[in-house]
This record gives sequence, structure tokens and C-alpha cells, in this order.
Amino acid sequence: MPRDPTQLMAFKWPMALYNELRKWFPLFNLFSFFCAFIIDAPFGRFAPSASDPSTHSIFPLFNMQALQVDGIRSWIFMELISPFTFIYAFLISPLTFYTPDMPSLTSPITLACTLFMIHYANRALISPLRTPSRSKSHLVVVLLAAGFNLANGYLLGSYFSSPMARIYIGGSYAYMRPSFWIGMTLWLVGFIGNIAHDEILLDIRRKAKARKEKDGEEREDAKKKGKEPKKPAEKGEYYGIPQGLLYDYISFPNYFCEWIEWFGFALATSPPPVELSFASPADFIQSLLHNAIIPLCSPKAWSKMIKGNAYGFAPLLTPPWIFFFGEILVMLPRAYRGHKWYKKRFGESYPKNRKAVIPFVL
Ligand SMILES: NC(=O)c1ccc[n+]([C@@H]2O[C@H](COP(=O)([O-])OP(=O)(O)OC[C@H]3O[C@@H](n4cnc5c(N)ncnc54)[C@H](OP(=O)(O)O)[C@@H]3O)[C@@H](O)[C@H]2O)c1
Repeated sequence: MPRDPTQLMAFKWPMALYNELRKWFPLFNLFSFFCAFIIDAPFGRFAPSASDPSTHSIFPLFNMQALQVDGIRSWIFMELISPFTFIYAFLISPLTFYTPDMPSLTSPITLACTLFMIHYANRALISPLRTPSRSKSHLVVVLLAAGFNLANGYLLGSYFSSPMARIYIGGSYAYMRPSFWIGMTLWLVGFIGNIAHDEILLDIRRKAKARKEKDGEEREDAKKKGKEPKKPAEKGEYYGIPQGLLYDYISFPNYFCEWIEWFGFALATSPPPVELSFASPADFIQSLLHNAIIPLCSPKAWSKMIKGNAYGFAPLLTPPWIFFFGEILVMLPRAYRGHKWYKKRFGESYPKNRKAVIPFVL
């Protein structure tokens, strides 16, 4: 049904917001990618501890204990933003001038939206509520992650309610496209892999917590009996060397699996972000070089993109691909620095052949 014409002006800002976010969100992620190789985001293993207030020498603000917030609650808060913004944008549908009908239950769009919600039900609620302990987070991290989730949820919700998504995956013909099923399978493999590897870490924590509680009871017991109590364990969160599944090859398989998940999602729900020819391997390489690699290496092309109108920015770069690239840009430096941290912390005991985040490569 067409929207009430008097409402069209009111619908200008959601579309303008979509265009600006589609341009500035990936550019900001790219900027943060370079920063994150120099500055460790102050959460998790890089959260400053009360006993070592000098952890972050570049940004002393990151060491301020007053700005550290509870790790689990802040995680729930920042991750819940994504599904809510997604639903909001889907309902207001910024890219249509008519009120779109809800997709049917059997539509591929419904399937894609359901998978997004399943991921966030786990990421924002199930996983944190099952986490035995999580280091504190700096307020800056919470605000930046909330910003990421606001932008990402809005872009994806707008995309899935747009005419473009309805053309690409709105009808049952999407079910006949091999890329749809390959993408969905990758999503599922990545989703299960992400949870399985997170679970290995949580198990290390559960066991450490149980040990700590037992030690505490034994110390109390020893005190009551007038014996010398055992020394308490080190303060702060416990870190062990994770083993099993892809941990035998990389330090951050949970991240790697998450990338597989969102790569599959983007492959299933959107055309490729650059024009590619699949006529032959040579054509494929040539199109990749001409349409992606050469423009990405050209400062002139970058300057044109940055100065240009938001509406014309990288026309094929749709929100599902922005999400996939965004995840890599945010998590790759974290994995690289985290891998170095593991090697420093565990020294010779850390498996030598283990890479950071891509088996056998990086
Ligand atoms: N980080 C990101 O930017 C980002 C972005 C999108 C999605 N995700 C996803 O969100 C999930 C959590 O991300 P994350 O960055 O917090 O992952 P992470 O650093 O691997 O930590 C996951 C959990 O395990 C604990 N942990 C980590 N290493 C441990 C070890 N060696 N021994 C015992 N416990 C350990 C952490 O506690 P501490 O907090 O105390 O270290 C945390 O509770 C992952 O599935 C990831 O794929 C992360």
C-alpha cells in the first residue's frame, strides 16, 4: 500500500540515515581496524586490573577504575541493541515509499531475519547468562559496541525490508539458487562452531571457579582447625590454554567461525559486493583485480569515495556484506593482539604451531 503522501517528507530522514550509515559505518570500521593494532580495547584480557593500573600506557583514561563496568551486564546491554534496532528499521522500512507487506512465513527473507534473531538470542542473552565470569569492560568499549550494533541493526533491518532484498531473496526462486543454500549451510556451520569454541572457554572458567570455591572452603576449614591456610589464588580472571577442535590450529576459532557464519549469511542474502565474472578462472581473477583490488589500492579512488555523495558510495556494498567486513575489521586486530598475549602469558607451554585466527595462514 502506498504511504500517505503527507508522510513522505517524514520518511526522508530514515532514508538519508541509511545512506549516511552505509557510507560512514564501514569507513569508521576501517579506521578502527588500524587503531586496534596499536591500542588494545580495554575489555576481556586487556581490561586493566586494580593491581596493575598501568596496563594502557597510550590511553591512561582506559586505566580509570571508575569507568569500568560489569562485563556480563554491559555485554547484554550492548548486544541487545542490534535485534531491537533491526526490528525498528524493518518496521519503518526506510527504503520504500509504500508500506511493505510482511513477508510470508515461508519467504527466504523470513528465514534470514529468523537466523539473525537466533544469533542475537544466543549472543545477547543465552551466552552471557551462561558465562561463569567475564572481566569488566571500559565504558568506552560499551559505547563503541553499542554504536556498532545500532548502525548494523539499522542497516540490516532497512535492507531486509527494501525492494532490493525483496527482488533478490523475496520469492521462492531464492531457494533454487545454489549460493543461497551454500550460504545458509555456512551460516549454520559457523554458528555451531562459534558456540562450540566459546563453550570450551566457558568450561575452563567454570572449572577454575569451582576450584576457587573449593580452595576458599578449604582455607576456611584450615583456619577453623588452627592450621596454616593455603595461599589464595591470584586475583583477577583465570585464563587457561584452550584445547580441542580448531583450538589445535588457531587461538581464536570462535572469531573464525563467526566470520564463516556472516560470510554465509551475506552470500545467501545479497549479491556479491563487487561485480565478478565467473565465466572462467581467468575471468574471475581479472574481474576481481579490476573491480576490487586495483580500486582499493588507489588513493584517488579512495578520495573520490570519501568526498562523494553517500548515496553513490560503493553501490554494491549491501548491509549483509558491510556486517561481514565489519566483523573482520573489528575482530582481526583483537585476535592478532590476543594471540600475542597468549604467547607472552604462557611462553614455552603455548602450542608453537597455533596461528592467531586463520588456520595455517594467520
Ligand atoms: N570481541 C568482538 O569484537 C566481537 C565482535 C562480534 C562478536 N564477538 C563474539 O562474541 C563472543 C565473545 O567475544 P570475546 O571477544 O569476548 O571473546 P573471547 O575473548 O574469546 O572471550 C570469550 C569468553 O571466554 C573468556 N575467556 C577468553 N579466553 C579465555 C581463556 N583462555 N581461558 C578462560 N576463559 C577465557 C572471556 O573472559 P574475559 O572477558 O574475562 O576475558 C569471555 O568470557 C565470541 O563468540 C565472538 O565471536 C566478539
